[in-house]
Amino acid sequence: MTAKVPVSYESYLKIPELTNIQVPLAEPSAHDEMQFIVVHQAYELWFKLLTHEIQAMITFLNKGNLPQSIWTMKRCIEITRVLNQQIHVMETMSPTSFLEFRNLLNPASGLQSYQFRCLEFMSGLKHERYLGLYEADSLAHKALTQALSEPTIWDAFMTYLKSLGFEVGGDSDQLASLKIIYTEPKWNSLHFFCESLMDYDESFRVWRHRHFLMAERMIGFKPGTGHQELPKIKHPQAGDLPSGESGQAFRDAGVHYLKSRTEPRYFPLLWELRTHLG
Ligand code: HEM
Repeated sequence: MTAKVPVSYESYLKIPELTNIQVPLAEPSAHDEMQFIVVHQAYELWFKLLTHEIQAMITFLNKGNLPQSIWTMKRCIEITRVLNQQIHVMETMSPTSFLEFRNLLNPASGLQSYQFRCLEFMSGLKHERYLGLYEADSLAHKALTQALSEPTIWDAFMTYLKSLGFEVGGDSDQLASLKIIYTEPKWNSLHFFCESLMDYDESFRVWRHRHFLMAERMIGFKPGTGHQELPKIKHPQAGDLPSGESGQAFRDAGVHYLKSRTEPRYFPLLWELRTHLG
């Protein structure tokens, strides 16, 4: 019988593997490329955990376990706060340092992050047109196609409300139900849950704003590295773009595109509700 190798910090967390997957492209080396890679990889790890938690949260809701859903949302919100802070590390890179290796990245872009897209789909911003970005990556394409077909956080919440007897048929029914939840003390737990959804939504909007500002600070209004990819995305819908700009902002890509992404919300009715209260 072979003796069991005791688990160690290094072996359990696969530290040698983890610290050997940062492979800069620039030659001669560009000092800031290491932070660029590490920050992106750290984001992707957080996206992985966030997806895992959101899936769990939806399952808790499906089982009618509201306290556990609230608890899980708490973790999701804290993760989004970490995401928001991390952007400032990237901002310690000057635009000239970025230029030392930026042209080597073409056409790689955060636009291709399938974990980010998956989170957006699960959280409510589903747009089939993004699938075109992942045609060459069958695993990403499959995961996103599945996420497109599955209930979002809001869908799961509405199903739960329906099980409690609330009307959730259309937007006006849903708004009326939310009004009851926000005004009748016996629905306090649901009220807390809604506010945690607002924290999550707001925090993601802050991320989109910060990312947009950071990108403008870094590259101004040059086309983004992923700009060649954008025209392949068909049928832009005005739904997630500021009115008047329609599909144009989408096609302009780069920082214009990022600006257009600061407006969408995961739970628009929760934002609208504020106007109708009182
Ligand atoms: C020097 C730093 C960065 C710059 C200049 C930058 C710039 C851009 C630009 C211009 C786009 C629009 C698509 C394109 O034209 O390529 C984009 C998209 C995106 N970037 Fe960044 N980015 C930077 C860092 C990051 C970091 C650290 C992340 C973290 C994961 C990230 C995640 C994303 C995501 C998820 C998108 C798609 C956003 C959406 O579709 O709403 N970026 N970025």
